[in-house]
Order: sequence, then structure tokens, then C-alpha cells
Amino acid sequence: MKTRHMLTALVAAFLAAVLVGTAVFAADAEGTMKKGILLVAFGTSVPEGHKAIEDVSAAVRGAYPEAELRVAFTSRIIMRKIAREQDRVVDDPSIALSKMAFEGFTDVAVLSTHIIPGEEYQDLAAVVDGFRLMRERGTKSGFERLVLSEPLLAGEGDYDRLADALAKIYAAEGRSGAVALMGHGSPHFANAAYSELQTVLWRRSPNFFVGTVEGIPALDDILGRLKKTKHKSATVAPLMLVAGDHAQNDMAGEGDDSWKSTLMAAGYRVRAKLKGLGEYPEIQRLLVEKLAKAWN
Ligand code: CO
Repeated sequence: MKTRHMLTALVAAFLAAVLVGTAVFAADAEGTMKKGILLVAFGTSVPEGHKAIEDVSAAVRGAYPEAELRVAFTSRIIMRKIAREQDRVVDDPSIALSKMAFEGFTDVAVLSTHIIPGEEYQDLAAVVDGFRLMRERGTKSGFERLVLSEPLLAGEGDYDRLADALAKIYAAEGRSGAVALMGHGSPHFANAAYSELQTVLWRRSPNFFVGTVEGIPALDDILGRLKKTKHKSATVAPLMLVAGDHAQNDMAGEGDDSWKSTLMAAGYRVRAKLKGLGEYPEIQRLLVEKLAKAWN
């Protein structure tokens, strides 16, 4: 038995060596495919926030083991902060794509982790368009194929999919009290997506409330509606990829104007969930589906 196992292991090791050799050769050879995925997030400098990005990365690697995964952030403030405080360099999308083009990637998918097709997403789409244009104009820069995935709330079916995922993730909290979800919000017209999500969530349960930090609906809108219910307790949770600065301070912070403090001052028992959406398998699955849609 033992010798047979050792033989099997030897054969496996030999095959692995041959395969790795072939892979390296294939990547170097002219005209072969080199597949890459660039995960793009706003970014976070909060260590706890990084878990969501790592979890989404792991799910994407699991779905596409043949593609190399890279991560880029769009917030310059956060990239500078990470460089200063953690001595780590995170690229922005255009630098990350330039590096991938230079390293010979041929097929690249950019994975947007945005919730709404707002300003952040538009900027990312512009960068992707720029790289496509280089190739269209006949230069050797750019990629043979470059695709960009949609944000989570891009089209009609998306609202049902995200609402189902949220109703499942916060099922227990939604049974025993109100659930107030904190989105980022934006002056961009895509901010209306939050109101549509609210409507679609209410079709599932009257206990879910959607608000934003920087847009409409705001916390006051949630409070106004909550007062018309019999709820005595509420769970606050981020409707953002990561539980970063907004979740820790604007949502769950001890300051007077955080969601937690405001709701407590209004007489509610408040529990804060400090987990970003990206930490939940339900959301990881939606992101991988968006990626698959972009590849095909
Ligand atoms: Co912000």
C-alpha cells in the first residue's frame, strides 16, 4: 500500500511539474492567452475592512483558478494612507491595467465591486474604455480582450437578486426587529437605485430600511418611517462592500450623529453589524455571476 501511494505521489509530482512547465512556456509564447482579473474597489485603510476584499478575492479565485487576480483601489486618499501607514503599494485601475498589459496579459476582466452605477463606476468605465481604444487604434498597448463587469445594481433583475441576498443575510435580525442598511449614496442620478432597492426589499419584508450617508434616502427618512412602526429595536448594517470607515464611524461610532447614537437617542435598542457585504457568500456569488456575464 505504502509503495503504491508513493508511486502515485511521484507520478502526480511529475505531472504537476510538466503542467507548470507548460503553463510558464505558454504564457511566454507569442499568441497564447494569458487571463487576468482585476478586482476594483473604492478601497479601505481599515484592517477589518480588508477582510471583505480578501473574501471576494477568494471566491473569484475559486471560480476562475486559471486567471491571475490583481486588486486595485480607486480612492487616492486611501492609497496614500496605506502607503504611509502600512508601507504597502496598492495600484489604481489605470496603473494596474498598464502593468498587466506590459506583462503580457491578453484576456482581462475588470471586476467592479460597486453597488450602483454612479460616479466611481463611470470613472472606472472610462479607464477601461481608454485601454480598449488603444487596441482599436491599432497600437500594441492594451489587451486582445478587455471586459468590465456591471455593478451589483445595474439592471432590473439585479434588485430582486440583491434583495433576496440581503433578506437571507439579515433574516434573523429582520425577524426580531428593524434592519437599517447604510449605503454610501451619491449626488449622481444613479443614487435613485437605493430607493428602488428599498421598494423591492419591502416586497419581502416591511422590516428592512435603506438609507445612505451622502444621498437620499437619509437616516432621517428611515427614522420617520420607523416611528410609524411598532419596532423597539434595530440592527444597523453596511450596504457597502467593506465595513470600513463609514461603517465604523458614521454607522456604529460612539459620536452623537452616528446612526447607532441617533437611533438610540430616539429610544431604540441598537445592534451594529460590522461586516461588509463582500464577507457574505451570497454577495460573493452575485459578484462572480456579474464577472461571468462580462466574460461571456
Ligand atoms: Co465616503
